[in-house]
Amino acid sequence: MLAGKHILLIIGGGIAAFKSLDLIRRLRERGATVTPVLTRAGEEFVTPLSVSALAGQKLYRDLFDLGDEAEMGHIQLSRIADLVVIAPATADLMAKMAGGLANDLASTLLLATDTPVMIVPAMNVRMWEHAATQRNLATLRGDGIIVVGPNEGDMACGEFGPGRMSEPLEIVAAIETQLNDGPLSGRRILVTSGPTHEPIDPVRYIANRSSGAQGTAIASALAALGADVVFITGPADVPPPSGVHVVRVQTALQMQEAVNAALPVDAGVFTAAVADWRVTTASDRKLKKSKDGLPLLEFAENPDILKSVSQMTEGRPKLVVGFAAETNDVIENATAKRLRKGCDWIVANDVSPATGIMGGSENAVTLISDEGAEDWPRMAKDQVAKQLAARISDALK
Ligand code: CTP
Repeated sequence: MLAGKHILLIIGGGIAAFKSLDLIRRLRERGATVTPVLTRAGEEFVTPLSVSALAGQKLYRDLFDLGDEAEMGHIQLSRIADLVVIAPATADLMAKMAGGLANDLASTLLLATDTPVMIVPAMNVRMWEHAATQRNLATLRGDGIIVVGPNEGDMACGEFGPGRMSEPLEIVAAIETQLNDGPLSGRRILVTSGPTHEPIDPVRYIANRSSGAQGTAIASALAALGADVVFITGPADVPPPSGVHVVRVQTALQMQEAVNAALPVDAGVFTAAVADWRVTTASDRKLKKSKDGLPLLEFAENPDILKSVSQMTEGRPKLVVGFAAETNDVIENATAKRLRKGCDWIVANDVSPATGIMGGSENAVTLISDEGAEDWPRMAKDQVAKQLAARISDALK
């Protein structure tokens, strides 16, 4: 339900704008107030009259409308809502947002707003996949913008692929998740995820098989409970979740720096598979084969990020959760690891190849705390994430 919630809906200029009419209806059915803004290009696809009639509200269209400005200035308009939703978010609108432009009502509102912003992209598949759009998308995610979709399928232009706008009910579900006052609202939680890449030279690096799936699922589950999540990720296989603040890093040293910058937090969940060593002799030129034999790499130990946060004497998070990826003597090794690192909980799992856990969709974990070891049945990583998020929420009460 969205009773009492106020949504500022910006309708961009794309064929998918017709779905936004249904979106307005669905939102109002659930008790939300929808204030619509229609861009110039949006007017080519849906009429101002139908938008404002369905919303039952005044429609805003022009930055320099004297009547509108006298009634409610554009700055004020940008602040009235609990959430700003842009559907469809065109490539042009995304580019304007990423570049910080403010040359029409929609882009000015977006630059002036201090409320969370959700974009629902819709465009031709080539436009979506274009390097410029993907660059803008990464920037927007990094700015904490929530991204819903796009879906894959047949497109109005006759092509097939990702770029179709999410369906109204999917958008409603994302809005409900975002606006729910969950048990973790007001809590700031840090999640590290993915592998780290430690360069050997400009083209080679040391890495590991972590896909980032479990960390991503945990960040998503925490956000769904209302937490303000800082998601610090190495180069993972899976895309980051929506609704979190994403910080991308490559190396362990960069991850440590990003973690320090994100503190203080209420809880830290360290799922990243951080490389234990980095190459101190990393070359800024590609290493060549040579008659003189094999290259000699020298290593240094990376800082233990989990340990340093666990052992902070001032401003330590109330709850620090580590992960232990083991291939043998899982409980014994993980129990010792918890004490060595000083974290509150360790989530231990067996990553030996036969389990199919590393890179797979399921996980079988044991939660180790000062109360002992608790085995959880094997389940989907999403389910492990939800269960862990619920436990974290209890522990932070
Ligand atoms: N970790 C970390 N920084 C590191 C290494 C590990 O923050 N430099 C964190 C991981 O995110 C994980 C936990 O420590 O939560 C355990 O990681 P793991 O690689 O299993 O432990 P190691 O300390 O590397 O122990 P070992 O090599 O003995 O298995």
